[in-house]
Amino acid sequence: MEAAIEQDKTKLPIGVFDSGVGGLTVVREIMRQIPNESIVYFGDTARVPYGGKSKETVTKYSRQIVRFLQEQQVKAIVVACNTASAYALEALEEETHLPIIGVVKPGAKTAVETTRNGKIGVIATKGTIRSEIYTQYIQQLNQNAQVVGKACPLFVSLVEEGLLEDPVTEEIAQRYLSGLIDVGIDTLILGCTHYPLIRSTVGKVMGPEVSLVNPAYETAKELKELLEEHHILRSDKPALGTNQYRFFVSDGAGDFQEFANSIFKYGVLSAKEIDIEKY
Ligand code: DGL
Repeated sequence: MEAAIEQDKTKLPIGVFDSGVGGLTVVREIMRQIPNESIVYFGDTARVPYGGKSKETVTKYSRQIVRFLQEQQVKAIVVACNTASAYALEALEEETHLPIIGVVKPGAKTAVETTRNGKIGVIATKGTIRSEIYTQYIQQLNQNAQVVGKACPLFVSLVEEGLLEDPVTEEIAQRYLSGLIDVGIDTLILGCTHYPLIRSTVGKVMGPEVSLVNPAYETAKELKELLEEHHILRSDKPALGTNQYRFFVSDGAGDFQEFANSIFKYGVLSAKEIDIEKY
């Protein structure tokens, strides 16, 4: 009987959330690494950006989203937002019985494995930088590592505007990143889920000597391990015609869908608006 219940659980979706479209870079990686899994994504497009908001506000928003995802009967949750991982993950871990994972720890781990000179840069929102969470995790793994953080708030709007490879984005990247080049970092964490979408611009400005770390890759890998640990990794493909990937937003479903289709191979046929304040 218990085995039957366990088996059913594997078929439940994974809940993934972000303040907007950025978390889709994590979804893309989950689709690639564990293609049997179903996903329910929530993008808080009505309240984006989270990056300049207080810990209390981001935690309140994250709790509402977790309640919504639980209503969707997810089996695990991925906080695909660095700001929410930095500010709210600890509280969410204490409050929910579901396996839950953020993007910061996996990103820190990859950076420590990547650096050769021990100088690691982190670009992220103001909130993530202010929390110093990357520094804490990195120095837990390597206490001699030097971590230099830089908030790059305009990157989020540039990505949401679709200016991924644009002279304006390059100009702003040069201003934000010149200090990190001067320090001589050899590894740079893209510490905001929006930033992998401007990876080529950031790479052009930083130069070929600097390795760029996208925490999404390691997050999807650790998610797979977490599902295995809890015996809820799905082993079979969902039946043809089932809605394997479902997308919800708090505003602007049409724009979200258009954006999602510009970065996925998979066609996002619909995104549904919900009132997240109800949760
Ligand atoms: N995607 C969010 C993150 O990873 C940043 C966008 C925002 O400021 O809401 O931190």
